[in-house]
Amino acid sequence: MMKKLVVYYSQSNGNTKRIAEMIAEKIGADITEIDTVVPYTGSYDQIVRQGQEEVNRGFKPQIKEIEKNPGEYEEVIIGTPTWWYTMAPAVLTFLSSADFAGKKVAVFQTHGGWPGHTLKDMKSLCKGADIMSEKAIQFDSTGGNRLETPLDEIENWISGL
Ligand SMILES: Cc1cc2nc3c(=O)[nH]c(=O)nc-3n(C[C@H](O)[C@H](O)[C@H](O)COP(=O)(O)O)c2cc1C
Repeated sequence: MMKKLVVYYSQSNGNTKRIAEMIAEKIGADITEIDTVVPYTGSYDQIVRQGQEEVNRGFKPQIKEIEKNPGEYEEVIIGTPTWWYTMAPAVLTFLSSADFAGKKVAVFQTHGGWPGHTLKDMKSLCKGADIMSEKAIQFDSTGGNRLETPLDEIENWISGL
């Protein structure tokens, strides 16, 4: 069987983590989390503003070493929350330094109704990858944790991974 790894970043409510865990469980993949060295602190609104400033300047925060080595997997599934119409800065750091040559890659985002150009931006950073699929998954528009995309639609997508 092909070795598969789910790599995700999740900050606000664990929305992206929830989907990542669902994927890992359904397809029998390993799972590992991206995290920043410096944690985000403050209220949701403060983090939204800090995120805007970081996205605008293309900031790449330092991230902790992830626990699994993507180099050892044939298929890598990468998930991010949407931050200002693109991937979260931590995922920008991760994708900017990773090498996906010869690997199958799938990307997904969680968002609150404004998906922007996140998946396109992620795909363009996966150098050398064979992009097999992508999925935008919507949670509620107030930044909360209510899933809006129907579960069977998500499960359908997962079964093709
Ligand atoms: C800094 C920041 C920026 C955000 N920008 C967007 C956005 O551009 N479009 C959108 O639909 N949701 C946006 N959101 C909402 C999150 O993408 C959404 O709640 C996501 O599911 C959170 O995932 P998490 O709980 O895994 O962190 C933003 C949230 C934060 C904290």
